[in-house]
Amino acid sequence: MYFCLYTESVVGVLRGSFFRIRPGSLAECQNTNQHMEVSNQINRQTSADLFEEAKHYFPGGVNSPVRAFKSVSGPPLFIKEGQGARITDEDENEFIDFCCSWGPLILGHNNDQVREEVIQTVAKGTSFGTPTRLGNQLGKLITGNHRYIDKIRFVSSGTEAVMSALRLARGITGKSKVIKFEDCYHGHVDSLLVKAGSGLATFGVSTSAGIPPSFAKETIVLPLNDRKALDETLQEHADDIACIIVEPIPANNGLLVQDPSFLECLRLKAYKYGVLLIFDEVISGFRVGFEGAAGYYDIQPDILTFGKIIGGGMPVGAYAGSHEVMSHIAPDGPVYQAGTLSANPVAMAAGYATLKQLLEPGFYENLEKKTADFVRKIQDHCDQKGYDIHLQQMASIFWMAFTRERILRSDQIEAASMETFKKVHHELLQRGVYLGPSGYEVGFVSAAHTQSDLEEAASIVTEVLDLIH
Ligand SMILES: Cc1ncc(COP(=O)(O)O)c(C=O)c1O
Repeated sequence: MYFCLYTESVVGVLRGSFFRIRPGSLAECQNTNQHMEVSNQINRQTSADLFEEAKHYFPGGVNSPVRAFKSVSGPPLFIKEGQGARITDEDENEFIDFCCSWGPLILGHNNDQVREEVIQTVAKGTSFGTPTRLGNQLGKLITGNHRYIDKIRFVSSGTEAVMSALRLARGITGKSKVIKFEDCYHGHVDSLLVKAGSGLATFGVSTSAGIPPSFAKETIVLPLNDRKALDETLQEHADDIACIIVEPIPANNGLLVQDPSFLECLRLKAYKYGVLLIFDEVISGFRVGFEGAAGYYDIQPDILTFGKIIGGGMPVGAYAGSHEVMSHIAPDGPVYQAGTLSANPVAMAAGYATLKQLLEPGFYENLEKKTADFVRKIQDHCDQKGYDIHLQQMASIFWMAFTRERILRSDQIEAASMETFKKVHHELLQRGVYLGPSGYEVGFVSAAHTQSDLEEAASIVTEVLDLIH
C-alpha cells in the first residue's frame, strides 16, 4: 500500500533510489481515515539540502522571492522534471501541477511539439542577434490572429514588456504619470512597485526599497472598480497622465474578476481624457482565448503587454498595438527600446509551437470545460458540507477563496485565510497536488491535465478540505 511508503523509515530507505513516489496515489485508498495520518511525512530532504546549498549562492536561496515558500511550510521543492500535468522533485515525489511555471505552460510540461521545435532550433545555434525567420513566423501568427494587434515587439520578460509599454505611452503622449490599480501586479517595474498614498488619488508610495520617491510619485494608485475615484483623478490630472494600466483579469492577488463594465469605463474614460489604455495581459494573454482579455471582453486597448504563454516556457515578453501606436518605437520612431536576446530564435520556436496548438478548433472550449468540471466538483463538495469556500474560475484559471463572499478586491481577503491556505497547501503536497506557494496565487489547468488527473486532484482537494474543517 502507498500508505506504507510514508513512514519515516521506509522513506529513508527509498531516498536516493530510483523509485518514484506518488503521494497523489493516496487517492487510491480514499475514504479511509487511515491515510490522514500521513501528514508531514513526504520526504523533502533532498530539496531541503539543495535549498541550504542555494542559500550560499542566491539571496534567500532563490532567484525569485515567492519560490522561497515563505508563506507555506517546509523548504521549497526542487523540481527536476515535468511531464504532462505532473512534476517530480529531487526526492522523487510526484505532483499534479497546478502552478504550471506560474502560467506559461498552457500545454503542460514537455509538450512533444514544443520540445521538437526547440531541439531542431537549438541544433542550428542558440542566438544570432539578428532577425530570424522564426521571429517572422511567430509575429505573423500573432498579428494574423489577434484583432487588436497590427505590430508586436518581442522582449524577454513580462516586466520588460510592461516597462517598455509605459515608455511608449509616455513617448506618444508626452505626459509622465500613470494610473495603476491596487491589487494589480505588473512585474518589478520601478514606478509600478507602488501602493496608494494616503487619501484617494494621491501619488504612490513605493513598496520596495531602492525606488526613488520621485519615481513612485509618477504613479497614481486607485482601487479597482472605483469609478468615482477614476473620474476625479482624470478630471484633476489628465494633463499629466500618459496612461492607465490594468490587469484586465486581475490574477495576482487572488482572482479578482471585475465587472466588464469597469473595463468598458476605463476604455471610454481613456478616450475622453486623451490618455492611453494598457491591458497587461501577461497572465490573461493567450490564456482566456487567443485574443486574451481584449478579445474576451471585446475591448481594444491602445497597448497590450504579454509574457508567460507567448514564449511556450522560454523567456519571452512582448508589447503590441496598432500600426500607429507601434510606429513610435525605434527605429521607426523616437521611443528607444532594445534587447540583446529579444526574439531569441529558440524562444521564438517554443512560442510558435505553443501558439499554433492554441489555434486548433475547440482548444479553449475543451480547456475551459475541463476546468469548470474540476472546479464544480470541489465547489459542490464544499456546498454540501457547508464550508465557507468559494472557487473563482475564469477560463482555465482558478482560485480558492475561504469565504462565500464574491471577492473583487484584495482588502476583502481575510489575513486568517492565508493561514488556512498554508495548511491546505501542506496537506495537498502530502497527497501529490502542487499549488503555487501562496494563497494569493491562482492555479492553472493545462491541456495536459487529463480527466483522470483532474478527478484525482479534485478528490485529494476535497479530502484535504474535510481534514482541515
Ligand atoms: C500581470 C503581470 N504582469 C507582469 C508580470 C511580470 O512578468 P515577468 O515575471 O515575466 O517579468 C507578471 C508576472 O507574474 C504578471 O502577472
